[in-house]
Amino acid sequence: MALPIRTFDAVVVGAGGAGLRAALQLAEAGLRVAVLSKVFPTRSHTVAAQGGIGAALGNMGEDSWLWHMYDTVKGSDWLGDQDAIEYVCREAPRVVIELEHFGMPFDRNDDGTVYQRPFGGHMQNMGAGPAVQRSCCAADRTGHALLHTLYQRNVRANTQFFVEWMALDLVRDASGQVLGVTALEMETGEVYVLHARATLFATGGAGRIFASTTNAFINTGDGLGMAARAGIPLEDMEFWQFHPTGVAGAGVLITEGVRGEGGMLLNSTGERFMERYAPNAKDLASRDVVSRAMATEIKEGRGCGPNRDYVLLKLDHLGPEVIEKRLPGIREIAKKFANVDPVRDPIPVVPTVHYMMGGIPTNYRGEVVAPRGGDPNAVVPGFYAAGECGCASVHGANRLGTNSLTDLVVIGKAAGDSVIRFLAENPGRKDLPADAAEPTLARLARLDGQKNGESVHAVAEELRRTMQAHCGVFRFPDLLAEGVRRVRELVQRVARTEVKDKSRVFNTARVEALELDNLIEVARATMVSAEARKESRGAHDRADCHDRPGFPNGRDDANWLKHTLWYHDGDRLDYKPVNLKPLTAESIAPKARTY
Ligand code: FUM
Repeated sequence: MALPIRTFDAVVVGAGGAGLRAALQLAEAGLRVAVLSKVFPTRSHTVAAQGGIGAALGNMGEDSWLWHMYDTVKGSDWLGDQDAIEYVCREAPRVVIELEHFGMPFDRNDDGTVYQRPFGGHMQNMGAGPAVQRSCCAADRTGHALLHTLYQRNVRANTQFFVEWMALDLVRDASGQVLGVTALEMETGEVYVLHARATLFATGGAGRIFASTTNAFINTGDGLGMAARAGIPLEDMEFWQFHPTGVAGAGVLITEGVRGEGGMLLNSTGERFMERYAPNAKDLASRDVVSRAMATEIKEGRGCGPNRDYVLLKLDHLGPEVIEKRLPGIREIAKKFANVDPVRDPIPVVPTVHYMMGGIPTNYRGEVVAPRGGDPNAVVPGFYAAGECGCASVHGANRLGTNSLTDLVVIGKAAGDSVIRFLAENPGRKDLPADAAEPTLARLARLDGQKNGESVHAVAEELRRTMQAHCGVFRFPDLLAEGVRRVRELVQRVARTEVKDKSRVFNTARVEALELDNLIEVARATMVSAEARKESRGAHDRADCHDRPGFPNGRDDANWLKHTLWYHDGDRLDYKPVNLKPLTAESIAPKARTY
């Protein structure tokens, strides 16, 4: 059965911050661009970003992109590529001012400049401290403001949106060039081939592989699943960020901006325990450090509540005026999800899965790269990725708060420019391969024909439980090995899931089954990569790799200062070097990481 074909210059999959910034670049260049999104663009997960976008504007005191770069390299536990980090930190002030000129409603200082707040791991003077005020924010709804600004700008540029469309599989020809995607129009259940001269993934994260996450239901790793099935490796998937302050029991994000404004974490004895773990930065240490400290307090019996399973985030001392002005959304969330008013009472919080540092390998121009002919970073023609689904790698083993918004706008824009360049240099349109739709048709036929299969929901729940129990804040070699075994078993079960309702029109059960095909790829990549990395670095903390002599915090640079590449076929692992050479700055050499 052939599928209907629609042709474009470029297809952008995903309409969060990265997708919209890239699409804007393309539409303003006069290209015929289609933006696919599973939800209305302004409901993309970027809308949930709260605390701000990092840029060394220096509005609140001295700052420089070099300091920002230093903090980001250190935050990444030296796994970040320093060319990409320099590029993002250097471009950050430019893109933020551009957003301001697009009309983004940032908070303001009395002199009219953009207000900036402190955030974890962002310091003055090449890490020496004290904390710098670098996070440009719109109260605690920065992602909301950013997404609406970019959406309106795209409407002005006549970007063509395909709302409630889900991309299903990547189309590659025999040479490896990417020629578009297959996609499902959810309203009708029809499937199409979108034939594009360039394809850009901005599909966001995949936190839904875990049971407790700040991520939206849509964050199912669709881009990663499609790339992996098409033979592209996934990079550094063992590194998942636990945000220290998810509402206990609900997982909803409480911005680090609370601690930026002066909030503090307390244990059951009322102690401000971060003073012990990070004497300089305290509550504003990087997220991996704070999350581990909280987990340790809880593990050692100093948690709060009847089950001693959370700690408290105190902010009443900031006063109602500051809370209302800078953190109004947090007050609302705390009332709704924790049943406390933070003007009076502390919020119960636990570390919660928040961000995927790994993803589809790219360079800092947003071009997807994969090993070929001895080059570990050979460009995959016609294929681009930006935002959380891409791994440039700006964040390495641990991302600093605010750097995700910076990354998605800077790399989103750069990826758009790369597409424009590629299309100018390659003016023709390559034919689709005869079997372009085969992988998609096979997946749909399997789902349509499956009898006596397991429920998608049951298998997905088991997957989330497995990831949460076997790949958490602290990781243990036996649990990881068992986790690999269980995830491989789940691969078999995913292949036998059944959707009882075979109808087409707005069949969300069918969509969830197709999403599960992506979740399982991300989970496999995560567990296999984590089991294999025999060191502790950033967010990957192995109990068997702690504080050995000569290994700062369990990090082993001699053997593991390298990026992981996981391949779908056979769970194969490969590695490639970290780029310690910035574009123009001096290299920042690895050293012990303390806050
Ligand atoms: O805490 C926050 O507001 C989250 C920010 C981020 O993930 O960058």
